[in-house]
Amino acid sequence: MHGLQHHYGTDASLEPQAVRELGAWLAANAGDGRRVRTAPPADRITRAEWFVREHRKVAASVWTRPAVGSASNCAACHQQADKGDFDEHAVRIPR
Ligand code: HEC
Repeated sequence: MHGLQHHYGTDASLEPQAVRELGAWLAANAGDGRRVRTAPPADRITRAEWFVREHRKVAASVWTRPAVGSASNCAACHQQADKGDFDEHAVRIPR
């Protein structure tokens, strides 16, 4: 994802937001040399095994709170999501 402006001879640059979202998807789903992961159902991050596991303590009712909206609204809870930081210490669930 780095150097998209020199992508096989063309400029494939993307908006920072798109780069972050694609980067998160790739980090979650790309093979790591030891194994190749299978893509989650419908290619949704929120349906990936790791996502479900990391969020198992989040009650179903939390996802539909007006301030959250849906699981894909990462920044609602991950305060540093815009910087690509999803560390558990920067999580605050809105009421
Ligand atoms: C409703 C609030 C909420 C939303 C929305 C949410 N998360 Fe989380 N996320 C959490 C909570 C709570 C944890 C667990 C924190 C803990 O273990 O203490 C977590 C954990 C994680 C972790 C593991 C962090 C760590 O340090 O182990 C990752 C990665 C993560 N979320 C990514 C995402 C992504 C990507 C999205 C959007 C597609 C997202 N989350 C949406 C609340 C949320």
